[in-house]
Amino acid sequence: MNQPVRLAMLGCGTVGAEVVRLLHEQSADLAARIGAPLEIAGIAVRRIGRDRGALPVDPALFTTDALGLIKRDDVDVVVEVVGGIEPARSWLVEALRAGKSVVTANKALLAEDGGALHDAAAEGGGDLYYEASVAGAIPLLRPLRESLHGDRITRVTGIVNGTTNFILSAMHATGAGFAEALEEATELGYAEADPTADVEGFDAAAKAAILASLAFHTRVGAADVHREGITEVTAADVASAKAMGCTIKLLCIAARSADGPGREAVSVRVHPAMIPLTHPLASVGDAFNAVFVEADAAGQLMFYGRGAGGAPTASAVLGDVVAVARNRLAGVRAASESAYADLRVRPMGEALTRYHISLDVADRPGVLEAVAGVFARHHVSIATVRQAPAGGGTGGDGGDAILVIVTHVAPDAALAATVRELHGLDIVRSVASVLRVEGGI
Ligand code: NDP
Ligand code: HSE
Repeated sequence: MNQPVRLAMLGCGTVGAEVVRLLHEQSADLAARIGAPLEIAGIAVRRIGRDRGALPVDPALFTTDALGLIKRDDVDVVVEVVGGIEPARSWLVEALRAGKSVVTANKALLAEDGGALHDAAAEGGGDLYYEASVAGAIPLLRPLRESLHGDRITRVTGIVNGTTNFILSAMHATGAGFAEALEEATELGYAEADPTADVEGFDAAAKAAILASLAFHTRVGAADVHREGITEVTAADVASAKAMGCTIKLLCIAARSADGPGREAVSVRVHPAMIPLTHPLASVGDAFNAVFVEADAAGQLMFYGRGAGGAPTASAVLGDVVAVARNRLAGVRAASESAYADLRVRPMGEALTRYHISLDVADRPGVLEAVAGVFARHHVSIATVRQAPAGGGTGGDGGDAILVIVTHVAPDAALAATVRELHGLDIVRSVASVLRVEGGI
């Protein structure tokens, strides 16, 4: 058995406490798998006196001096489960520059300034692993950065936020509105007291940036990701999706497409979208996560599991700890960041999407022609049109009708301009619902 590999734990909250517990419970197996025991050199927290229950660890290991702990010569690996941008960024840059390996679950930091961490890792020669930052327990980043490195990934479509998936699944199952479903999610402990990061899509956008960077060998940051949350999704939208044999999910979508002769670009977006009930992501319910990857040679792959929670996230953290510990013992490091492709990131207006538009219109001759003319002017091709009398009447009596239009793929800017013009038509009483459509209906 080799000398112990010594860990500096930064944070001991929901995830950190589970990492500590598993390190203790699995210590013999982990040592056998690595070829050396893992030892905790210290645990940096904000409040030394906090009640941490029956954590199987020497209380003397706790400190509030994170930087002092990181700088210690007997620390080989830094495990960061604190979260946020600062001071986590300064700590991890310091650790990486000093040649230590880093394992982090910090998606916000990776999406905000992952480049600084990768540059510091390249400078110091240590490893930077972050499997837990996207989709919790699901092994996803390692397959993207290793197993699929011989392939060409074309598209990644994911449900990467458990809170919003719980809310949208509840709205679909019960017909509840957003506020009611959020209340249920809060009562059951899925949504945090301040749910902004989840329901406004910030959490999913950070994860989308990390996935796109790995899939397309391009640095993509949170600012490059088009983001819309689910607060505007109504019970009527969900009913409209159901009527089409669909459901609504908050999707993160990263896709590559041609960008002129011999060039490609990527679009990275997070927004609610209708998907058919037959799509593999439609059956992902509750607070589960799933990511659907499409690649030239591999075809379609689906990764599914728990995207959050102390123990599931700790599983991913420990997998990374084992990997970096083995690398240190072998005197090697993992392949460094792959950002050679440096593809242009498209603005949302250029993203190729489809819309489902539900209009309340006057039911009289020429209305369909006027509506279709708006789509034609913006070069948006209509795929299907369905008309029903508003309020369930027989129609054709000069009253209102509901027109449901689904488009073919078009640039998002053309679709948005079409909807804006529809709003201004006097024959359109209201634009009842506008949703993007994914997954081929
Ligand atoms: P918690 O808020 O539960 O824990 C944060 C920990 O960091 C606490 O131990 C806290 O100390 C410590 N801490 C906070 N600020 C400082 C500081 N300035 N100096 C030293 N220690 C500090 O967070 P989570 O465990 O939920 O999340 C940790 C990371 O994991 C985040 O990046 C999060 O995005 C990510 N993640 C979390 C998931 C989850 O399900 N919770 C899922 C996937 C990723 P103290 O205990 O004294 O308060
Ligand atoms: N808040 C996140 C979610 C969990 O609801 O999925 C951490 O990534």
